[in-house]
Amino acid sequence: MPYSSLETITEQAAERWRTLSKDPRTAEVMSAAVRHLHAFAREVKLTHEEWLAGLMFLTRVGQISDEARSEFILLSDVLGLSMLTVMMNDNLPKAATPHTVLGPFYVDDSPELGHGDNMAEGVEGEPCFITGTVRNLKGEPVAGAKLDMWQADEEGIYEVQLAQKDGPYLRGIYHSGGDGKYVVKTIAPLGYAIPMDGPVGDLIRRTDISYFRPAHIHFILSAPGYQKIITHLFKRGTEYIDKDVVFGVKEPLVTDFTHHEGGVAPNGETVDGTFWTITYDFTLAPEGVTAAKERETVAA
Ligand code: BEZ
Ligand code: FE
Repeated sequence: MPYSSLETITEQAAERWRTLSKDPRTAEVMSAAVRHLHAFAREVKLTHEEWLAGLMFLTRVGQISDEARSEFILLSDVLGLSMLTVMMNDNLPKAATPHTVLGPFYVDDSPELGHGDNMAEGVEGEPCFITGTVRNLKGEPVAGAKLDMWQADEEGIYEVQLAQKDGPYLRGIYHSGGDGKYVVKTIAPLGYAIPMDGPVGDLIRRTDISYFRPAHIHFILSAPGYQKIITHLFKRGTEYIDKDVVFGVKEPLVTDFTHHEGGVAPNGETVDGTFWTITYDFTLAPEGVTAAKERETVAA
């Protein structure tokens, strides 16, 4: 049938993308996208005005985005699509430290810092020391593991959001020692609002959805022979922990922060005022060891 009607257009469009795509994956992804988009439009009985408003919204998402601002990632995050993709592709064995969302604020050229060095030098905040051991699935220490870390300041601002940048700000790369141990000095993270000055913020303001993330610190862990893990540590009991706007919280990543009135910190320095400590052991899985293989072994 050459022409389309309300009854036939969905199948015609899906079939066109399925049969005329130049590779099988494009055919599969695009024909499914067409079917689901049409189903969505049919379900909500999309009006012409709403269709146009949706396109204008996506146009604004694109217009506000640049190298330092990823409004599309933010949109994906608040819709739960980023975490769904993380979860569907997470094939780590159960005992490994799980992945969570990368977020839009990662910068990949952080400075290498030594054991116990401060990645928050000159930044306001309560000192916070993070220590622990990087281990493998057998519980053995992993020496020379890389901990690439970043976090927001007390105002909830990441380096990429600063108008004026004077060098690395609240980020750094640490390594575990021969015994697998690592020591980090930073400031205690606080909960913060995602960027609300763009179209995603406008959309969220039309709802009662909380636009905050619970206090957390970002990590990318890697070591030769092991699978890379993109993750966070979250503060147990902190505000918004049960309603993270981007759905990133996983139970094994929630950890205790201990408050101290002063004294000797885990990096050996004496701190006069109050400070926090976190003790957390990360577990890396060797390359090729997956949850799917784990299940096969149990079933065999
Ligand atoms: C973040 O934790 O950096 C983040 C993640 C998703 C959206 C906004 C911020
Ligand atoms: Fe963050």
